Amino acid sequence: MSAAESSVPQIELVAERLVAGGACLAREPSGRVVLVDGALPGERVRVALTQQKKTLAKGDVFEVVEASPQRVAPPCPALAAGCGGCDLQHATHDLQRAAKAGIVADALARIGRLRDVAIDAGEYLDPWAHRTVLRCGVDADGRAGLRHRRSNDVLALDACPVAHPLVDEVLAGSHFPGAEEVTVRVGARTGERLVVVAPSAGAVQVPDGVQVVGADRLDGTDPHPGAAVHEVVARCRFRISGGSFFQSRPDGAEALVRAVRRALGTVDPATARVADLYGGVGLFTVALGVRRGVLVERAASSAADARHNLAGREVVVVADSVEAWAQDRAHAFDAVVADPARAGLGATGVAAVARTGAGRVALVSCDPAALARDARGLVDAGYRVVGVELVDLFPQTHHVEAVTAFELDGP
Ligand SMILES: C[S@@+](CC[C@H](N)C(=O)[O-])C[C@H]1O[C@@H](n2cnc3c(N)ncnc32)[C@H](O)[C@@H]1O
Repeated sequence: MSAAESSVPQIELVAERLVAGGACLAREPSGRVVLVDGALPGERVRVALTQQKKTLAKGDVFEVVEASPQRVAPPCPALAAGCGGCDLQHATHDLQRAAKAGIVADALARIGRLRDVAIDAGEYLDPWAHRTVLRCGVDADGRAGLRHRRSNDVLALDACPVAHPLVDEVLAGSHFPGAEEVTVRVGARTGERLVVVAPSAGAVQVPDGVQVVGADRLDGTDPHPGAAVHEVVARCRFRISGGSFFQSRPDGAEALVRAVRRALGTVDPATARVADLYGGVGLFTVALGVRRGVLVERAASSAADARHNLAGREVVVVADSVEAWAQDRAHAFDAVVADPARAGLGATGVAAVARTGAGRVALVSCDPAALARDARGLVDAGYRVVGVELVDLFPQTHHVEAVTAFELDGP
């Protein structure tokens, strides 16, 4: 034990359950809650306390005294060097999936006051080599990598075990002198590779065939020519420009589409009028085979890609915020697919969904607390929660995607 380590207060505790954010909740004999990074449910651990407040403390596992049978040795060397990209590599994939279901159930009960909601842990997705998008920092030598666990320092990477091999090729073979941040995006099923460099492309070196664009060249409305990759999801081809959002793995996008399809119940996307809110480049409208309706997307780049990807359908693409679209006039739809950003729908988004009068709503949420608030809002607006299906888009991390099905219960 080093002198610095021995000066940190330590305590031995039994960890109870994984909570939102990836830490494990434990309690001191006084009742004070301690959030422990690196512990697993049921483990007796020695914790180095890093923060102490009256009712809450935080700490890191200093020693595992009694290990969980669900503990595994993290295979990633970068993690041991301090990489902050993954926080659950020390847990089996089964435990990660079960923990995520518990976190969503807890948020729905505590924040949404919705108990006994059926939660399905969802389909198994490959826990390794899946990420087709990696947002990286750049170190002083121009090497791209991920941030350290508790600092903004960049740990240069040649490979990342959760990244798609095409991303690894870009990481290993590139040099970005003077850049602050790079986003590597690949089309796993087309082989295309693109790097967006911030603030500008400058004198970068990348492997042959990799497209490069400066963030300063992405003006949104007119995507920089060539600054796009294509991806194939559910046998549909999508253009994704450098400034546009797309899910971070095509098999995960397919699992999401299937979960949304199940959430829509008896609604037939091919004939129903569907509102695809926060629609991005058109993933759900296209892959579900929606032919009539609207797609609302605020980001100009994504909306431009959606127009391209939706060509030939009677679907109006509204390049505006959902809030502005909803204020415009009342819109009647049979079904809504809503996939907001991390903050969730919020009160205005909930009102926008409710104003459609849709009989069925599929809400895609990437934050359990936001899901719980939105679910409460939709229930108060007359909807009933049918059930939740998780889509494990980000194995090895605490991040969880949930598709919740709602049915209109009353007028
Ligand atoms: C999580 S992404 C989902 C995109 C798409 N559904 C998909 O799966 O690829 C959320 C999208 O909502 C857009 N967005 C965020 N806030 C919005 C708002 N207030 N109104 C409309 N779109 C918004 C973002 O630009 C982003 O494309």
